[in-house]
Amino acid sequence: SKIFAFSIRKDEEPYLKEWAAAHPDVEVDYTDQLLTPDTAALAKGADGVVVYQQLDYTPETLQALADQGITKMSLRNVGVDNIDMAKAKELGFEITNVPVYSPNAIAEHAVIQTARVLRQAKRMDEKMAHGDLRWAPTIGREVRDQTVGVIGTGHIGRVFMQIMEGFGAKVITYDVRKKPELEEKGYYVDSLDDLYKQADVVSLHIPATKSNYHMIDAEVIAKMKDDAVLVNVSRGPLVDTAAVAKALDDGKLFGFVMDTYEDEVGVFNEDWTDKDFPDPLLKDLIDRPNVLVTPHTAFYTTHAVRNMVVKAFDNNLALVEGQEPDTPVEVG
Ligand code: COI
Repeated sequence: SKIFAFSIRKDEEPYLKEWAAAHPDVEVDYTDQLLTPDTAALAKGADGVVVYQQLDYTPETLQALADQGITKMSLRNVGVDNIDMAKAKELGFEITNVPVYSPNAIAEHAVIQTARVLRQAKRMDEKMAHGDLRWAPTIGREVRDQTVGVIGTGHIGRVFMQIMEGFGAKVITYDVRKKPELEEKGYYVDSLDDLYKQADVVSLHIPATKSNYHMIDAEVIAKMKDDAVLVNVSRGPLVDTAAVAKALDDGKLFGFVMDTYEDEVGVFNEDWTDKDFPDPLLKDLIDRPNVLVTPHTAFYTTHAVRNMVVKAFDNNLALVEGQEPDTPVEVG
C-alpha cells in the first residue's frame, strides 16, 4: 500500500523516516505543502493520506482527494474543527486523529505559563533587561495559594490538574462528562458559574464546538474573581479576546496565558520580523507585561511530534488495510 503525507515539517521528517523504515512494505511519500484543491493531486496513487494543517479542509479540498479515490485521511493532531464534516460524510471519508500524542506537552506548558504569570516573571525579566534589579513592586503569588478551576477533564485537563496539585494548588473542575474517579474525589463543581466564582485561575481544556464560541466573554469574565488569571491553551474561538483585553485594562484580570488565538491562522508560525505586524489586538496582547502569548506551541515538543507522526501513520495504515484504527473520528 501507499501512504502520502502533506505539510511535513523538517522536525517531523526523522520520525516519518523512522516509521517508513519500520514498514518496508508500505510506500511512503510526502511533501512540505499544505493540502489544498491544488496540491491534492500530489497524493495521486496513494491509498491514504496523513495530514496536519490549521487551514480548513474545505469541501473542495475533500472533493479533490475523493476525485482520486482517496477517502482515508489521518490527522497528525487532535482538533477536527477545521474539517467540513458534512462533505466528508457525503464523500464517505474515514478519518482518524491523534487525541493523545502528549497531554503532558500541553498541560506542562499551561502550568509553566500560569506560574510565570503569577510570579510576574515577564515584568521582572523586563526590569532585569533594563538594569532595574529591585524587588518591589514585582511580588509573586504562590501556586499553592490558588484555587485552580479546570474546564474540561479530558487527557490534557487531567494532567494539568495533577501537576497543579503537585504544586499544592486547590483544584476544582467542571465537565459535562464527568470522570467517575474524579467525581468520587469531589473535584467537580456543579456549574461553570460555581467554577468562575471560586477559581483564581481559570484554565480551558475543551475542544471548540459550534455552541461554545466565545464562551469566555465580558459577562463571564465579570463573574470571575477579581485578579483571576485566564489560561487558554486549547482553542482560540472559546475566548472573546477583545473582552479579555478590556478586562486586563480594567484591572479585573491579573493576567492571561494565551497559546491559541481566535485569529491565529496565517499569523502564528510565520516570521513577522521586518514586516508589518498584521493584527493590532494580538500585538497589544504580546506587548502587555501580564500577558504571555505563545504561537500555538504548547504541543510542540519532541515527544509530541514523534507521537503525532508515528500514530497518524499507524492509523492510516490500519485504514488502508481495512482494519480498525486506534482512534477513529466520528464523521458527520
Ligand atoms: C491539535 O493537536 O489539535 C493542536 O492544537 C496542535 C496542532 C496545532 C499541531
